[in-house]
Order: sequence, then C-alpha cells, then structure tokens
Amino acid sequence: MSRKNSLMALGLAFGLAAFIACSGGEAGSQEAGSGASAEAQVSDAAATEGQQEMELPEGVTMETVNQGKDVYAGAGLCYVCHGAEGQGMPGLGANLADSDWTHSDGSFDGIVQTVMNGVDSGASTTGTAMPAKGGSGITDDQVRQVAAYVWTLGK
Ligand code: HEC
Repeated sequence: MSRKNSLMALGLAFGLAAFIACSGGEAGSQEAGSGASAEAQVSDAAATEGQQEMELPEGVTMETVNQGKDVYAGAGLCYVCHGAEGQGMPGLGANLADSDWTHSDGSFDGIVQTVMNGVDSGASTTGTAMPAKGGSGITDDQVRQVAAYVWTLGK
C-alpha cells in the first residue's frame, strides 16, 4: 500500500467512526433535548415563584396598587410634581420610579410616612417642599393606595 492509500484508508475509517458516533449521538441528543425542556419548565416554575416571592407588602393587593395608580394620576395630584410616570420633574418632585429613596428606606411603610407628612423644604434636595399628602387632601386610605403604587414603581 502506498503512503497515500493508507492515508485514505485511515480517512475512511475515521469517517465511518464519525458516522457511527453521529447516529448514536443523535438519539443521545434527543434525550438531552427533552431533559433540557424539563429543566426549562422547572426554571419557569422557579421564576413564577420568584415573582410571587417579590410579594406585595402586607395588606396590599394588586387592587390596592391599581387604586393607587388612579390616586396618583388623579385626586392625589402626585403627577403634577412627580410626572405622569413617576419619573420626577426637575426642581419639583423626585424620581419615584427608581430604587433610590432619599426620604425613607423605600419600604411601603416608609413611603406611606413620606406621603402622609410630605417633605420639609429643608429636607428636600431641591429646597422645594412637598406638602403633606401632596397638598391634595386625599384620605389616609388613598395615601396607602398611592404609596402601594409608588412602591411598585421602584421595583
Ligand atoms: C407640590 C409638588 C408635589 C406634589 C403634588 C407631590 N410631591 Fe412628592 N415630593 C415633592 C418634593 C419636592 C419631594 C422631595 C424631593 C427631593 O428631596 O428632591 C417629594 C418627595 C416624595 C417622595 C420621597 C421620595 C424619596 O426619594 O424618598 C415620595 C415617596 C413622594 N414624594 C410621593 C408623592 C406622592 C405619592 C404624591 C401624591 C399624593 C406626591 N408625592 C405629591 C413634591 C411633590
């Protein structure tokens, strides 16, 4: 056998081995495939659980949050100083849609307190005060609702 021929034979043998490996591997990869989708289902479930874990504060439901959204954009007048999306207004209300909280720890109770009492001009980073309840005269219940909504904005 010439050197060239023996190389070809070697190539053929490799080719055959690769072919066998491939066809065997296919069945294997199908199994791996179904295994992966089972894992995906598991991690989906974990993600849902994760969302449920990021639970609303005690005593707060999605209904509270939705009511709060109406208060924010309506009777509470919050949008006037904090913007329609809570993004803040230069020189007026702070950004409420991030996770930076200046006047409380950003907890639901902390936000309730801030909204109840407002922010003193001395404490305000812009020198602009926030009147208690935004000066809107909303009820304490509405304060809780709008605080719940604001709390979700920061999440
Ligand atoms: C007259 C304008 C005005 C209105 C109306 C107003 N705010 Fe404010 N708000 C402010 C100002 C000013 C601050 C302090 C900003 C600063 O320190 O830079 C503030 C701060 C806050 C903070 C504290 C943010 C932090 O970083 O700790 C919250 C929460 C808040 N407002 C919620 C509300 C809600 C809810 C309403 C509606 C009920 C409302 N505000 C209505 C002006 C207003």
